[in-house]
Amino acid sequence: MILELLSGPADVLLDSLHWERMATIKAVRGTRDLLPPDTNLWNHVEATARSVFARYGFGEIRTPVFEVTELFARGVGEETDIVSKEMYTWEDRGRAESDKGQSLTLRPENTAGVVRAYIEHGMTDTGMLQKLFYIGPQFRRERPQRGRYRQFWQIGAEVLGPPWSGSDSALRDAEVLEMLATLLNELGVRGWRLALNSVGSAEDRKRYSAALREALEPVKHNLCEDNQRRAETNPLRVLDSKDPGDQEIINGLPKISEFWSEESRTHFEQVKAALDACGVPYVEDPRLVRGLDYYTRTTFEFTVPDGSGLGTQNALLGGGRYDGLSEILGGPKAPGIGFAIGEDRLILTLQAQAEEAEPAKLDAFIAPMGVAQNPAALKLAQELRRAGLGVEVGDGSWRLKKSFEAADKLARKMVIVGEDEVNSGTFTVKDFSKGEQVKLSRTELVGALTS
Ligand code: HAM
Repeated sequence: MILELLSGPADVLLDSLHWERMATIKAVRGTRDLLPPDTNLWNHVEATARSVFARYGFGEIRTPVFEVTELFARGVGEETDIVSKEMYTWEDRGRAESDKGQSLTLRPENTAGVVRAYIEHGMTDTGMLQKLFYIGPQFRRERPQRGRYRQFWQIGAEVLGPPWSGSDSALRDAEVLEMLATLLNELGVRGWRLALNSVGSAEDRKRYSAALREALEPVKHNLCEDNQRRAETNPLRVLDSKDPGDQEIINGLPKISEFWSEESRTHFEQVKAALDACGVPYVEDPRLVRGLDYYTRTTFEFTVPDGSGLGTQNALLGGGRYDGLSEILGGPKAPGIGFAIGEDRLILTLQAQAEEAEPAKLDAFIAPMGVAQNPAALKLAQELRRAGLGVEVGDGSWRLKKSFEAADKLARKMVIVGEDEVNSGTFTVKDFSKGEQVKLSRTELVGALTS
């Protein structure tokens, strides 16, 4: 290539050099490249999720990454932050008259898309409960920070069907939550916390919204600007405000539980009873309303402790029940419940928690004293490994100090193999955690090194 350029006319050469000096192009702010070795962890998480979902009877659904804008306006709600501020929307320049000017949007979430597909493919006609999961990118124009991106990945699932399929049973809510607890435990996520609430039926919510609006009316001028607007348009959203200045007012507001119908209360009690039976721990959080309009009854969020690598974004996943969404989208009655895990956040958490954990150490480090002891050291390592121990061997040419340092880094205990030891069949074993040194016979060795 260079030779060709050098032998070409001078202006071609200059043009090419100019081309090579152009500014580099970077990934758009809020989007990221995922590279190896990190992608190994992504694949592991997705494989574990697939395996857990399969055990609970879920099948995969793949819906398009863009949909008509109206789907989200109707499904997620015009007044939500997602729809009012965060969507990537454009007018299609399609050639066909029918496409021209159509408003399209990169999906900011996938529940609306799944319910659209459920209706479009007549899945309700089977009369069966549909258990669908998805893994894929979502798009929201948010202010990027650690754990919050403009293209991010969700692993989610939806359980829905006609009421006679049992789709509105509290058992389904508990099953989904128990499955999530199982998935997080299988992945080794430590310290997760499940926050649980019920936002009541659509009617309960309506009455609660009216009560909130009334309670906020005399005090709303003291709220932050965003919440002043929400107090009018979507008063439930005031409840999960993070603004510290608003907390006193929020604490004085009526609670949703005061507005639950008898049915909503019973449903919530049944969810909790089933979780108790399965030993899934949860904390009730009367202010957990979540930022999407379709929720009815059970809402939930799993969080991880501060310091799990997420900055302030410690909600790993969220979800809830949506009894009227299918009808809002023009479909049949099909209550459902679902969730979406923020996969980026799950990965950041696993990485941070792995760094925090003490690296796993081998059972023993065998240190030969002198090159002549190398064969005996290797033979001892062979025997111990055959007995199931994790063992590393040093080298007889190393000075004792170097062997000590390597052993301390890699193993819990060090076994010294010198000429005396080989002749007498007793070994000096140093225990790093206790700082002790003992002499042991060959037969005592395996027991002592695994204790
Ligand atoms: P969501 O709470 O909007 O719910 O999102 C679910 C999870 O996605 C969040 O808990 C968070 O972990 C992750 N997430 C959201 N935004 C971002 C972002 N900008 N960057 C990184 N992660 C993010 C839903 O999307 C509902 N569709 C969940 C659902 C399914 N409800 C019922 N079925």
